[in-house]
Amino acid sequence: MTKFSFTLKATDGRARTGTISTPRGEIQTPAFMPVGTAATVKAMMPESVAATGADILLGNTYHLMLRPGAERIARLGGLHKFMNWDKPILTDSGGFQVMSLSSLRKLTEEGVTFASHVDGSKHMLSPERSMEIQKLLGSDIVMCFDECPALPATEEEVAKSMRLSMRWAQRSRDAFGDRPGHALFGIQQGGVTRELREESAEKLKEIGFDGYAVGGLAVGEGQEAMFGVLDYAPEMLPADKPRYLMGVGKPDDIVGAVERGIDMMDCVLPSRSGRTGQAWTRRGQVNIKNARHADDPRPLDEACSCPACSNYSRAYLHHVFRAGEMISGMLLTWHNLHYYQELMAGLRAAITEGELARFVTEFHETRAMGDI
Ligand code: GUN
Ligand code: ZN
Repeated sequence: MTKFSFTLKATDGRARTGTISTPRGEIQTPAFMPVGTAATVKAMMPESVAATGADILLGNTYHLMLRPGAERIARLGGLHKFMNWDKPILTDSGGFQVMSLSSLRKLTEEGVTFASHVDGSKHMLSPERSMEIQKLLGSDIVMCFDECPALPATEEEVAKSMRLSMRWAQRSRDAFGDRPGHALFGIQQGGVTRELREESAEKLKEIGFDGYAVGGLAVGEGQEAMFGVLDYAPEMLPADKPRYLMGVGKPDDIVGAVERGIDMMDCVLPSRSGRTGQAWTRRGQVNIKNARHADDPRPLDEACSCPACSNYSRAYLHHVFRAGEMISGMLLTWHNLHYYQELMAGLRAAITEGELARFVTEFHETRAMGDI
C-alpha cells in the first residue's frame, strides 16, 4: 500500500512545488482544496469538482458530527463513499468551527462543550473525540484538535491559547496512533507574535507530524499582517513536510502565500461567492448582479475553458442570478473553482520553470487592468 509521503520537485526562492502521495491518489502542490463542509461542495457534483482540477477536498468534523453524525457515516462506508468522492479528503478538527458557529461554549483543559447551531443539542469535542470522528469519517489527512483565539486578543491570551493547543497537539498525536496511509498534521498557533510562532513550531516538531499547518491567520488581521507572519512562519516548519495555510484565501492571498513557501490552502471563497453572484477572473472580481452585464453577449472570461465561460454569456449569467435560478450558483461556482485550480497549475508550472517572479508580475498586471 502507498504510504503517505511528500516529494519536493522544485523550488524558486521560498516557493516550492511537489507531490503528496496517498493511497487515494496524488496531490500536486501548491494545492488549493475546495471546501466540502457538509459532505458536498455546494452546487457541484463531485465529478465536476474533480473536472476543475482539484486533487483533494476539505470536510468538517464539526458539521458532520452534528449532521448526519460520524458513526452513521462510518456505518454507511465512510465519507468518501457517502459523498461519492474517491480522491483524498482532509478534515478540519472542529475546534475552529465550534468557536465561530456554536453557542453556549465551555472551554476546559479537557476540551470544549457546546450547543449545536443546528438544533441546540449538547456536544463535546476533545483531542481524543476529534481523532475518533476523523477516523470514523475515513479522512486521509487528519488535523490536530486546536483552539484559534478570536480577535481582538492580547498577546497573553494568544500565548495561553497556543500552549493549550500544543498540549492538545500531543494528545491528538497519542490518540491518532499509527495509521499507515493516513496523515496527521500539527497546527502552529501564536497569532502575529514571532516568539510565540517559534515556540509553537518547536513544540510541534518535537512531537512530530506528517505535515504542518499555519493556523490562526486570515481571522481579520489583514493581508499585510498575514504576509508579515508568512515571511517567517513557514521556515520554522520542516522543509521536507507539507505546509498548509488554513482558511486562505483570495487569489492574491494565495499567490503571496505560495511565494512565501506554503504548499496547501483551503477557502470557502470561490464556492461561497459563486452563490452570491461574485466571480473571480484573471482580471479581478466581477459582480454578475451588476446591470452593465444585462445585454453583454461576451463570456465572463474569453480565456477560460470552464462550462460557464464556454457556453454562456454574461447576459445569461446576469439573468439567472437575478431570477434566483439554481444554475446561477452552479455555473459561477464551477467557474470560480476552475479559475482557482488554473491559478494553482500556473503557479506550479512557474515554480518548476524558475519563472515565479515573472508569473507573479503578470498576475498583478492583468488584475490591475480591471474587468473588461
Ligand atoms: N481554519 C482556519 N484557521 C484555522 C485554525 O487556526 N485552526 C483550525 N483547526 N482550522 C482553521
Ligand atoms: Zn470560466
